[in-house]
Amino acid sequence: MKTTIDTDRSEVIVEENGQTSYFPMETAEAFDAVARAYLRVGWDTKYVYSFSWLGRPIIQLPDDMIRAQELIYKVKPDVLVEIGVAHGGSLIYYASIMRAMDKGRVIGVDVDIRKQNRKAIEEHPMFDGISLIEGDSISDATFNKVKSQISEGEVVMVFLDGNHSQKHVLRELELYSSLVAKGSYILAMDGIQEDLVGAPRSQPDWGHNNSAAAARDFVKQNSDFEICEPGPQFNEGQVTKFVTYWPSAYIRRKN
Ligand SMILES: C[S@@+](CC[C@H](N)C(=O)[O-])C[C@H]1O[C@@H](n2cnc3c(N)ncnc32)[C@H](O)[C@@H]1O
Repeated sequence: MKTTIDTDRSEVIVEENGQTSYFPMETAEAFDAVARAYLRVGWDTKYVYSFSWLGRPIIQLPDDMIRAQELIYKVKPDVLVEIGVAHGGSLIYYASIMRAMDKGRVIGVDVDIRKQNRKAIEEHPMFDGISLIEGDSISDATFNKVKSQISEGEVVMVFLDGNHSQKHVLRELELYSSLVAKGSYILAMDGIQEDLVGAPRSQPDWGHNNSAAAARDFVKQNSDFEICEPGPQFNEGQVTKFVTYWPSAYIRRKN
């Protein structure tokens, strides 16, 4: 795919599969083409490694953060489980949204919670809404620890941002979807990997070995769930598709 941005003519030209399309700048198609290029350049330049939330590094695209916030506010879960804590920025982000809503708490799981990250999270003003569990997300021991912190009837939302391989995410989906109530979501994040084969820091098998593939496999095998991107909750513009690192991520329990 070749994308050309012609600001003189106010159009975006896309050459793909032997076809050339000319999109005026004010169209959703032009925005989408530029967004796809932005996502790729952003990956190559490690753009998402430049943000923090309330003092802690967060490795997310700001668009995805805002969309996650929209979803959290819509569902208003009692508990948000995040797999993949890293520096803690995302955990603190979710905890701060829940503090603002005056509802809910977060459980963070990571196979390796580094000493300095744990210290910063535990000393953070948001920590009273957070608990940390160290362990492999797909081990029974870790899953049982998470489960033991959730009471019967609580609405749970789960964000999977740990190991993004297809097999691992599929196992996480099988385990943690059992916690998700009707109308709530489990997110298989970072499926953007399927579009990044050949990019720096990518793997040759990412075309099929990624979390978006796991999400699609999971809903095929589990008819109580569907992939359902919530869509913008407010929109006075033309663009309706999310700019996202999380394609096919939003899995909703429908029954
Ligand atoms: C991309 S980082 C998470 C970024 C973080 N959610 C944020 O937004 O800032 C991935 C994290 O997943 C953790 N991880 C990798 N494999 C895991 C596993 N099997 N179980 C739990 N955590 C895992 C890594 O240790 C790492 O901290």
